[in-house]
Amino acid sequence: MKAKILLVDDDPFTRKLFEGLLKKSAFDLQTSANVTEARKILRETDFNLLILDQRLPDGNGLDLFAEIRSERPNQLAILITGFAEVRDAVRAVREGLFDYLTKPFENLEELEAVIGKALEMDRAYREIANLRETIGELPGLPVLINRSPVMERLIIKLRQAAPLDTTVLIEGESGTGKEIVAKKIHARSQRSARPMLELNCGALSESLLEATLFGYEKGAFTSAAKATPGYFEEADGGTLFLDEIADMSPKLQASLLRVLQEHTFVRLGSTVQRSSDFRLICATNKSLEAEMKAGNFRSDLYYRINVVVLHLPPLRERREDILPLAMYFLEHFNLKFGKTAGPLTPEAIVALERAEWAGNVRELKHAVERAVVSNSGGPLTPAAFGIADDAVAGTITAAQPLPFREARDAFDRQYFENLLQLTSGNISEAARLAGIARQNFYGHVLRLGIVTKS
Ligand SMILES: Nc1ncnc2c1ncn2[C@@H]1O[C@H](COP(=O)(O)OP(=O)(O)OP(=O)(O)O)[C@@H](O)[C@H]1O
Ligand SMILES: [Mg+2]
Repeated sequence: MKAKILLVDDDPFTRKLFEGLLKKSAFDLQTSANVTEARKILRETDFNLLILDQRLPDGNGLDLFAEIRSERPNQLAILITGFAEVRDAVRAVREGLFDYLTKPFENLEELEAVIGKALEMDRAYREIANLRETIGELPGLPVLINRSPVMERLIIKLRQAAPLDTTVLIEGESGTGKEIVAKKIHARSQRSARPMLELNCGALSESLLEATLFGYEKGAFTSAAKATPGYFEEADGGTLFLDEIADMSPKLQASLLRVLQEHTFVRLGSTVQRSSDFRLICATNKSLEAEMKAGNFRSDLYYRINVVVLHLPPLRERREDILPLAMYFLEHFNLKFGKTAGPLTPEAIVALERAEWAGNVRELKHAVERAVVSNSGGPLTPAAFGIADDAVAGTITAAQPLPFREARDAFDRQYFENLLQLTSGNISEAARLAGIARQNFYGHVLRLGIVTKS
């Protein structure tokens, strides 16, 4: 679907400019020259982005935005303003506008980049809104935000594997979402009405882990005051999630293998054979294959566990997920703390998308939480995430030197635009000022996409 953009500006030159620019990029652009008409159009159509001139013949773009925003809180808008009004515009951004552009437009690439960022943000808002609907239908289902192709493929695999009873191995660095994936598998399985029991093999001593898994009879060891079933038993009909499986001791690896092969076990201090029907999900932040090759993990157990493998890539290898995740967490913590932090400024979006995120999604989540907690209701700049503003300054527009042709086009575009601006769009007058023939002038502005043939 083409993104829908509404431009409200009484200046025909600006409308032409945007028509040239946006139609070329295959957007669905509608235009209006005044507030009254824009209101009418807005009642009928849902736009992904509004581009509003500040001073309009029958009102003010900012007031119009405030009006719309009260009904559609996630409506994105960019304000067009003259240099003299920039200070107002800065205030406007604080009030929820996505960004502002100053006339005359000197850098069309910046204009395109800002529009691109706004549309990206709109897409993220809509994805989250869709998600909320889905969650509404399926209460209790863990929320897994994803946009990147790698995560989409992983979700497909997850959906295929979930209803089967196969063992699943989830691999991924710390904080990549292994636990949430395990919960999702359980929730989508036929066992979802039964519990999923979780145990972190790295957090317990060998004997405690053994007692927790197998259960014990009274007096099996000094502190065993009463008979207690283990997780194998309790997970009967449900799922057993063994986190950090690579940390399991060799002795317990052997015991687990036996349980998986024979489907039976005995409690500690007992001789009664018990059986349990549980589905096993394992997770590891190490490579289990490497652990096996290094002799730390039994190969026979490895092959039992390594049936369906879901590999969660680190966040830095799927940067498309960063913005939707950040916006989801922003909403989550705003709600949780009763705050109104946001929106993210374009610079903050770039900063977040570029950061390293060694701690993956968990680190991003904590960063957003801290930003929300210390925000008093306003936009979130890179600084809110502890990133210096100048670290991203100028990055929204391409900082790379342009090839000669493009650089010359950029110069030409600016030159011709300035002339048109000066003459309020009068081509004959502009051509006269430039000292070239009208026909010639028209050829240039057409080629540069400043105006389109009408
Ligand atoms: N795709 C996602 N969508 C929404 N929230 C996510 C996503 N991925 C991770 N999270 C959140 O990030 C945090 C870390 O995720 P999780 O605990 O699942 O990671 P993990 O891989 O199990 O980490 P560790 O190896 O440290 O145990 C959790 O709060 C989780 O809810
Ligand atoms: Mg975990």
